Amino acid sequence: MFAVPTDKLEPGKILAEEVRDINGRLLLARGNEIGDNHIRIFKIWGVSEVTVEGPAKGNDKFEPEISPEMFEQIRETVKDLFQHTDQEHPLVKKIFNLAVQFRCEHNLIDMQSEVYINEQEINPGDRNKNFVKRLNQREIVLPEIPSVVFELNEVIANPLSSADHIARVVNRSPSLTALLLKIVNSSFYGFPSKIDKVSHAVTLIGTREISGLALGISILSIFKNIPKEMIDMYSFLKHSLACGILSRILAAQKNFGQTEQLFVSGLLHDLGRLILYLYFTEESRNILSRARRGNKLLYQEEHDYLGCDHAQVGKQLMEQWKLPLILENNVLYHHIPSKAQQPIPATIVHLADIVVNSLGIGSSGERFVPPLDTAAYENLDLPLSGLDTAIGQTAHQFYALESILQL
Ligand SMILES: [Fe+2]
Ligand SMILES: [Fe+2]
Repeated sequence: MFAVPTDKLEPGKILAEEVRDINGRLLLARGNEIGDNHIRIFKIWGVSEVTVEGPAKGNDKFEPEISPEMFEQIRETVKDLFQHTDQEHPLVKKIFNLAVQFRCEHNLIDMQSEVYINEQEINPGDRNKNFVKRLNQREIVLPEIPSVVFELNEVIANPLSSADHIARVVNRSPSLTALLLKIVNSSFYGFPSKIDKVSHAVTLIGTREISGLALGISILSIFKNIPKEMIDMYSFLKHSLACGILSRILAAQKNFGQTEQLFVSGLLHDLGRLILYLYFTEESRNILSRARRGNKLLYQEEHDYLGCDHAQVGKQLMEQWKLPLILENNVLYHHIPSKAQQPIPATIVHLADIVVNSLGIGSSGERFVPPLDTAAYENLDLPLSGLDTAIGQTAHQFYALESILQL
């Protein structure tokens, strides 16, 4: 079953849900074959989309023909992934349909291979019950701030920072320079001629945007050596990048001024998980394994096992590094945005995370689609109709930027 925009509807499809006009008048009952005349009527009455049976035909660059069996398999898999969410909520229903459609178009069938867990004997004695206390009292040593992150932070905090200033900071790190030039020369930005100087890139893209991008990349690259049997870092970065892109797009749809802030928040929202994977390897292995065996949400298992979850660990590092408070807010509350001091940006990251998990673009280790904070979503007041466009744009921008993931 799929939602298809009326202008992409083809005759011959079977209607899966009845279509009514704005006054509630029935235009076509479910189970009917849709003809040219019906499509015309839908358009006349301003019906923007209808739900049809069977696999949708994509309009993206990927258009694999998929068999009805394959379609059913994907639908069943997605249903399983949505088991911790309220599937009756209109937004969740919408995301579910879009997820099945996206996975059919992109042939994303087996998501389990995204995470590698080296099964270990679970020893309850390994639990570190004092984890939170030790974390709060700084007994657990978090990584020190790298100088480039520190300097980028200063640039972002200073409203008088010039293009030259940021270029000087970036140029001190050859790998960051190479990466930023790769990004600005990618089809994501689509500049007609080659840009070979950071200062030129900053002038074209803007100080805030480029410092945010550089900050996010520099932080994630600290964790590039996480053992593959724990988490596939490439897959983790795909999840982070897609969340960053979608957060920015949703922020733009909401006319939220600081879109690059949302991009960095999306990029870093699961940062705490990298700290757990790298510094608490044994505990993380057990948490991943227990969540998988018990069909539990990973962050709930983190809570049960450690007494806190990756959002709190990520926030702790951000606080220690004195990153902007808005990043702390968005990272700490990305699973419960209604509790945030600034709920709107936290809800944007929350939604982006839910959508990206459901689409199956990479993975941070979480197998399931996280539950929707309905109160926060209602407060955000984001029209459902914008989601199709946002997902299309995210996929497009993601593929343009994917090459930067080789940190
Ligand atoms: Fe998370
Ligand atoms: Fe996430």
